[in-house]
Amino acid sequence: MLARVLSSAVIGIDAYLVEVEVDIAQGLPTFTTVGLPETAVKESRERVKSAIANSGYRFPADRITVNLAPANIKKEGTGFDLPMALGILSATGLIPGNGLAGYLFLGELSLDGRIKAVNGSLPMAIAARKAGYRGIVVPAENAREAAVVADLNVYGVHTLGQVVDFLRGLVSIAPERVDCQAMFTQPIPAGIDFAEVMGQEHAKRALEIAAAGGHNLLMVGPPGSGKTMLARRLATILPPMSFDEAIETTKIFSIVGMLDRARPLVTHRPFRSPHHTISDAGLIGGGHFPRPGEVSLAHNGVLFLDELPEYKKNVLEVLRQPLEDLQVTISRAASTLTYPASFMLVAAMNPCPCGYLSDPRHACRCTPHQIQRYRAKISGPLLDRIDIHVEVPAVSRKDLMAGGDQESSATIRQRVMAARSIQSRRFERTKVHNNAQMASRHIRRHCRIGDDAEAVLTSAIDRLGLSARAYNRILKISRTIADLEAMAHIEVHHVTEAVQYRSLDRSRKQLNP
Ligand SMILES: Nc1ncnc2c1ncn2[C@@H]1O[C@H](COP(=O)(O)OP(=O)(O)O)[C@@H](O)[C@H]1O
Ligand SMILES: [Mg+2]
Ligand SMILES: [Zn+2]
Repeated sequence: MLARVLSSAVIGIDAYLVEVEVDIAQGLPTFTTVGLPETAVKESRERVKSAIANSGYRFPADRITVNLAPANIKKEGTGFDLPMALGILSATGLIPGNGLAGYLFLGELSLDGRIKAVNGSLPMAIAARKAGYRGIVVPAENAREAAVVADLNVYGVHTLGQVVDFLRGLVSIAPERVDCQAMFTQPIPAGIDFAEVMGQEHAKRALEIAAAGGHNLLMVGPPGSGKTMLARRLATILPPMSFDEAIETTKIFSIVGMLDRARPLVTHRPFRSPHHTISDAGLIGGGHFPRPGEVSLAHNGVLFLDELPEYKKNVLEVLRQPLEDLQVTISRAASTLTYPASFMLVAAMNPCPCGYLSDPRHACRCTPHQIQRYRAKISGPLLDRIDIHVEVPAVSRKDLMAGGDQESSATIRQRVMAARSIQSRRFERTKVHNNAQMASRHIRRHCRIGDDAEAVLTSAIDRLGLSARAYNRILKISRTIADLEAMAHIEVHHVTEAVQYRSLDRSRKQLNP
């Protein structure tokens, strides 16, 4: 007897249909699996066998062959347990053959027949809907994340016995429903706001410009000056996520099994802050069983690298690809995988190894040579991808206590969104979405400046010893500042302000005349 059960596997962030064929023939009892890596299969066979027996069914004492097709896609994970068990029970005639048709199944079995959560049920539900399936049967714990997909019945199940009864028409299961709209309007649980940051007007302004143009940003300041506090609030002034962005980011969290069960849709921009001890695979993804890294978990959100010079050189090196391509490509022996990685980079560092170079309350004992070596840890090519540098000075206790009304994130976000909508119109029907992504030809076209602004810019470059690359960067930031004022032309004062955000180029010159 031959049975076919449909399941799914994830490659990159998309899921593919996998057909689980089970053939039971007379002969000595064997259980052979084709099309799965050996170690995974061995364990899976044991679980399927025990789960069937412990659910009160007879495990056939015949020659069982399970084939997972297509053979050429790599199938990882434990989600094939349930389809394999159902295939066996269908081949023995317990489940009517047509009962399985039209459904996609996934789930790990425990030895007693309970169904355990698996990763990637959202992309799999998307694949099921695309293929026109009427429903998907998933572990109960994964039901809400799969139910984010519209026009697909999602059945969350607890045990193998329950699925068998369902397919035999003995019990019914209510399809899971989630209200995606409601999730968008729910506030973030740990609400944070710019209104809590006292003073630091200069830094706040830099973050607003960064948010408005999608510019990466580096904050330099002594310990305790509020760099982490500011970075954490950046996502609160970025435009709200669109539904498509939410789905993309949620797929990544689904694949790594990091979704919050109560909030199956990631509706707020992620903020990721990996520790500086992270490996390159942890940061950009990869590993033996490839999985997305921090840059992809930050997709459509913010990646914060605190203490930037402390990261290993090779780790900072691998950041360049996603910063350039907005995605990560991981080469495997037989194939390559791509994970999206479009994020805003926010980095923070101390001005010197001891941290107190710019702090009037502490003395810095670092030598110029030590300071230079510290800063040199961040390679030029990485710095080149960070448009905005901003100094965050220590705040006096008096200023902290002064309090006073600070602007809320909602107010700043309004301005950011207005500037973004100017950019959407500007870059309509192009691959560029914001000012930060402009290439030279876009800069030539959209960042024309008058003679007086040009004079300010060239004199600043001479005076501060900025590189030619800094020239384009200043033009981009000037464009964003003008957009914040809804001005079509870049004026002198836009350029004057933009020049300030290349402070590291400046101090390089000072340190290394
Ligand atoms: N401008 C500020 N307004 C309010 N609180 C601040 C400010 N700057 C610092 N703090 C307080 O000091 C703490 C340390 O700031 P933090 O962001 O960790 O500094 P850094 O990352 O620069 O070392 C914060 O948690 C916050 O309580
Ligand atoms: Mg900090
Ligand atoms: Zn120092």
